[in-house]
Amino acid sequence: MDKLLIRGGQPLRGEISISGAKNAALPILCAGLMTAEPLVLRNVPRLQDIASMLRLLRQHGVKIDEAATVRDPEAVVALATPTLHSDEAPYDIVRTMRASILVLGPLLARFGSAKVSLPGGCAIGARPVDQHIKGLQKLGAEITIEHGYIHAKAKRLKGARIVTDMVTVTGTENLMMAAALADGRTVIENAAREPEVVDLANCLIAMGAKISGAGTDRIEIDGVEALHGAEHAIVPDRIETGTFLCAAAATGVFGGSDLLLRHAAPQTLQAVIDKLAEAGAAIEHNGDWIRIRAERRLKAISVRTLPYPAFPTDMQAQFMALDCTAEGTSVLTETIFENRFMHVPELIRLGADIAIQDDTAVVKGVAGLSGAAVMATDLRASASLVIAGLVAEGETTISRIYHLDRGYERMEGKLAAVGARIERVS
Ligand code: UD1
Repeated sequence: MDKLLIRGGQPLRGEISISGAKNAALPILCAGLMTAEPLVLRNVPRLQDIASMLRLLRQHGVKIDEAATVRDPEAVVALATPTLHSDEAPYDIVRTMRASILVLGPLLARFGSAKVSLPGGCAIGARPVDQHIKGLQKLGAEITIEHGYIHAKAKRLKGARIVTDMVTVTGTENLMMAAALADGRTVIENAAREPEVVDLANCLIAMGAKISGAGTDRIEIDGVEALHGAEHAIVPDRIETGTFLCAAAATGVFGGSDLLLRHAAPQTLQAVIDKLAEAGAAIEHNGDWIRIRAERRLKAISVRTLPYPAFPTDMQAQFMALDCTAEGTSVLTETIFENRFMHVPELIRLGADIAIQDDTAVVKGVAGLSGAAVMATDLRASASLVIAGLVAEGETTISRIYHLDRGYERMEGKLAAVGARIERVS
């Protein structure tokens, strides 16, 4: 199994091109189930999760036009679903990727039935899908849970007012896709406002859906009979962007980092940019680029994760890595997932001083970290270990990097190109 070998102590200087957002591409690929005509997507990141989603979609009957798939930088995927082969999303695929639940709304709305394996818990928490199910029931679906599968049926879904119990990103996306083909008007209240929800809405609108309010907590959808083909470019990945910003900020002490991130969407990263500026990094941005300069040891930064536009849970681990060697003590509170501190014991192996109490981690900044063998436990935890490895003196090896490959496109290649000493070893 592959590992990453990192020799820390280098600043990052140069340019990195940001990939399309994984969390936008996954639901948008599922929208390909909703039309018989070609949906041409650009800027699709090349990642393990995308490959898993394409595998799932193929077995449902989605046709993927391989000839239309061109090389970087376009990263095109063209897909269409003339007929359904199978309405079942099997356990062996769903258990590898929870976002598989996003086929539920599209299958049910277009084909009238779906059988989707319950995802089960995952490393970072229980992560139930009750809001997806309750919302679809409100739209008139008959749903039973048997033998670990969600069985959903409906002749045609009917618009309804849905108020979700909590802000859920994929829940909002599933319900928005289902409602797009329902009869009449649906209103989703307490909707997730994440940029990925907006990107999905924009793609659905290009396919003929009638949606307004995406990006606010109230989304209105007037169902249409059918959707048509469209072309859409996936938004830049704000979490990949934020991860590289943290890597540059953390390594500034080694003689000054100066990193320019291109094809980014700075407007989706305000909470992260503000925190980095508070820590002492110099950040400029405009349109589709962000530049970060960091020269000295940063100040400790406290964060509390919340739904967008507040500080994202998907950046908590990377900020913790930054705080490990910052000046002062920081408090990081995780309010979205109940078990999202698995990187802590690994960061401690690298010399960090961290104490956890319930949903809060207290990090006392130390003067430096020292390289060690560590293990990745989930996607963003892996990213935090990479950042810590870039700072640690000596060699750090990170095992189980398949977690990293699920969500980052060639991370070690992008970092090595800006001066990091990082390589993939078998
Ligand atoms: C999405 C993102 C993930 C990110 C998360 C929070 C994708 C593919 N993944 O995950 O990277 O960390 O948003 O920003 O977009 N909940 C329920 N019942 C439900 C649904 C959610 O109790 O039916 C709870 C979850 O357990 C969690 C919270 O609500 O505590 C938010 O979860 P949610 O926004 O749904 O996360 P995902 O959409 O799975």
